[in-house]
Amino acid sequence: MKKIKLSVVPGDGIGNEVMPHALDILDVVGEIHGGLDFEYEHFEYGCDYYLKHGKMMADDGMERLAESDSILLGAVGDASKVPDHISLWGLLLKIRQEFELGINVRPAKVFKGIDSPLSDPAHFDLVIVRENSEGEYSSVGGRMYRGDDEIAIQNNVFSKRATKQAMEYAFKLSAGRSHHVTSATKSNGIFHAMPFWDEVFSETSAQYEGITTSQQHIDALAASLVTHPQRYDTIVASNLFGDILTDIGAAIMGSIGIAPSANLNLNGKFPSMFEPVHGSAPDIAGQGVANPIGQIWTVKMLLDHHGEEEMGSVLLDTLESVAAERILTPDVGGNATTDEVAGEVIKRLKRKV
Ligand code: NAI
Ligand code: MG
Repeated sequence: MKKIKLSVVPGDGIGNEVMPHALDILDVVGEIHGGLDFEYEHFEYGCDYYLKHGKMMADDGMERLAESDSILLGAVGDASKVPDHISLWGLLLKIRQEFELGINVRPAKVFKGIDSPLSDPAHFDLVIVRENSEGEYSSVGGRMYRGDDEIAIQNNVFSKRATKQAMEYAFKLSAGRSHHVTSATKSNGIFHAMPFWDEVFSETSAQYEGITTSQQHIDALAASLVTHPQRYDTIVASNLFGDILTDIGAAIMGSIGIAPSANLNLNGKFPSMFEPVHGSAPDIAGQGVANPIGQIWTVKMLLDHHGEEEMGSVLLDTLESVAAERILTPDVGGNATTDEVAGEVIKRLKRKV
């Protein structure tokens, strides 16, 4: 029996509503497989934890999370309790950075059964590889003076090691897809970091024969992702650019509520982390209408990561079959609840046991 030990962090808001379904689904996947078993350790880290303890996670939190094979996370943040930069840096970004989760992979495609807001969403199926450990999301900088003289300085950090790692990952990924990598740049406006980014990109592309490349400035690329998403296969982007592009990817699929992501550790020292792209959605939390597809598709990425691609495909096909029958939450035009959508997925999976 293959055992996969997961640290489970539902986090805040709708994270708590979608996570239980993801775990039920993993259990059923284990049954279908017959030789796969998931063991969960639950962590109540998040904004409520902060209100009780004055911190987002326990002092030994990172060591305990490190003991698992992977981390499954819901969403973090509740600005009514804790300022967003405190909650994000205290938990999510802390894990991404300390566990060296240098790559964030986020697919976007025409999802069967879900209407894209594009009037003609010519078939698109792309994946965005986002550098996940540095770039614009750096803690280097500071603030000084107050009032009208106040100054804020935020330094971008681009290391060759992390930049190249993200690019190499994109090229390898593209080799199993349509053999084209697009680099998101802004070397016309960002004087130091982006010409460096371009140089590393051309150096990396020279290592990968048979994969064509293009580069586009982030503003034009963002627009083009809306007008011609079918032109893209694999896009590699810095931390901030990737963050923005992946929300566009989610939007053109139909809802941020369906978009999944994988935060990957490539050196084997720490577990990888899987989380939907969406946040804790305070505006709909507690109403039972959160779309569970993002969290469930994230589970598919976790299965792929652990070498269970066949189970991953079964899960994605099942999700699309449920959506195709319009059993959908309100964010994608349906009137089903979170429980109804997830319940239908489980019902269909159980037929395969
Ligand atoms: P958000 O993703 O939570 O919500 C944006 C909009 O999308 C809202 O209207 C929300 O109702 C909707 N939405 C999101 N997920 C949905 C789902 N599964 N089903 C249906 N509708 C869904 O982003 P927002 O509002 O910017 O941030 C809210 C909080 O979440 C903040 O505290 C923020 O810091 C945090 N956040 C955390 C992230 C994470 O844990 N990875 C990512 C983004 C935001
Ligand atoms: Mg985001």
